[in-house]
Amino acid sequence: YIFGDSRLNSAGININIESQWQPFHAGVTDYLQTVYSGSPIINGQRVMSGHCHAVHSPYQLQEKVGEIYWADTQNVQQAIEIAASAFPAWSNRPVDERAIYLERLADLLESNQQELVALCHREAGKTIQDSIDEIREAVDFCRYYALQAREHFTVRVMTGPTGELDELYLTGRGVFACISPWNFPLAIFLGQITAALVAGNTVIAKPAEQTGLVAWRTVQLMLEAGVPEDVIQFLPGDGYTVGAALVADERIAGVAFTGSTDTAKQINRTLAAREGAIPTLVAETGGQNAMIVDSTALPEQVVIDVVHSAFTSAGQRCSALRVLYLQQDVADRMIDLLKGAMAELAVGNPVLHETDIGPVIDAEARDQLQAHVNNMKASAVLLAETPLAADCHHGCFLAPVAFEIQSIKELEKEHFGPVLHVIRYAASELDRVIDEINETGFGLTLGIHTRNEATAAYIDRRVRAGNVYINRNQIGAVVGVQPFGGQGLSGTGPKAGGPHYLLRFATERTRSINT
Ligand code: SER
Repeated sequence: YIFGDSRLNSAGININIESQWQPFHAGVTDYLQTVYSGSPIINGQRVMSGHCHAVHSPYQLQEKVGEIYWADTQNVQQAIEIAASAFPAWSNRPVDERAIYLERLADLLESNQQELVALCHREAGKTIQDSIDEIREAVDFCRYYALQAREHFTVRVMTGPTGELDELYLTGRGVFACISPWNFPLAIFLGQITAALVAGNTVIAKPAEQTGLVAWRTVQLMLEAGVPEDVIQFLPGDGYTVGAALVADERIAGVAFTGSTDTAKQINRTLAAREGAIPTLVAETGGQNAMIVDSTALPEQVVIDVVHSAFTSAGQRCSALRVLYLQQDVADRMIDLLKGAMAELAVGNPVLHETDIGPVIDAEARDQLQAHVNNMKASAVLLAETPLAADCHHGCFLAPVAFEIQSIKELEKEHFGPVLHVIRYAASELDRVIDEINETGFGLTLGIHTRNEATAAYIDRRVRAGNVYINRNQIGAVVGVQPFGGQGLSGTGPKAGGPHYLLRFATERTRSINT
């Protein structure tokens, strides 16, 4: 396996060190048999009036992780009523009180880390390393947004005429619907909610259909942290019954959404067509992320960064590398190294220490990706395909694969999995490469590998992308370090984990007092 060298993480556990891995892993193992029963949580109460769905692990389809009740139409109405009536009191609480809830939640995430790692692994098929990183990111969101709220939500005295006190301050907007994806079932789920809450909004959270149990367990911890029961409503369910109903309701003041560009546009249309106040949309969507490698780049470094960027988390990151541009002069050498590296990847049971890549999220995703791979096999050059471990037929696995194609235009959409596309370009064609990337309309991550600073600066300036990574991998944005989010078809901004994120969840007011 080859991801081993990066297994040092900010949770303070280096799972490469046997003495640290063993006790941590033993703690995770304690939760591998737990059977969960999740449900909507409305005003702190478990609600079981909707349909109950079985939850199976994408790694091992026979393994039942538990069951979850989905919200019905009536639950949605109840949740909106409660969240709307809780808003005035919550938005008037001192910001410090709201921030303290986030910090308590961060502590609880840490003290329940092994259970959450086990649950992310089982429900979303994440490797242990990915699950640890996920929890770390969730903890970081809680602490970072608590700090940011204290900084931004204080009253600012403006300079006005003598005899007048002029103040500017932020308050929440109302009820926020937070609609989150399955690829970060804890981190993005909580990132949206904590931002909305600490900014003074009440929240209705709708997790992805595939990962309701991680979200459900997280909401339990929020309540344990003391977040008032009327302030957070939890509605697992399908997009139509829950998501669409929330978005269409005039009592929803804002929507935070992470998912596909098409769904974000649909949400935007629904919000625009509503009567009443103009709602806010914060959307993080897809990408067609590229990396440009020129002939001065360090081949060994490039290949490690390509493999990480394209295949970590089975390629199921919005940030993941999809299209690798190699300068003609070095392409053969880079491709040889890439084949060698891909042959070393360990694909299999995500709970094992040596596994680099686990399954994709479900059978539907696997089948769609497989159809794309089959098309590519018929129309493109197969460069490398990593073999699957023997036990992979029990789950939703897709072999990491790399193809050579002629143009990014051959990709009609983003393929959200471990499929890498390689394109050769001549040095004289750099501008064409840049234009081609921009013409996709997406603008999420961009990788650049070159030892020529002028080239790096030129590409950086010309390619439209929210997050640019030079001479390193292009995934794993760290909260407060690389605020994350794209432009164009990739999202509305502001960036998650950045200093401007909370502001979009708030509204500004001024107060002028004749003293
Ligand atoms: N924030 C994630 C990353 O940077 C996006 O999927 O990898």
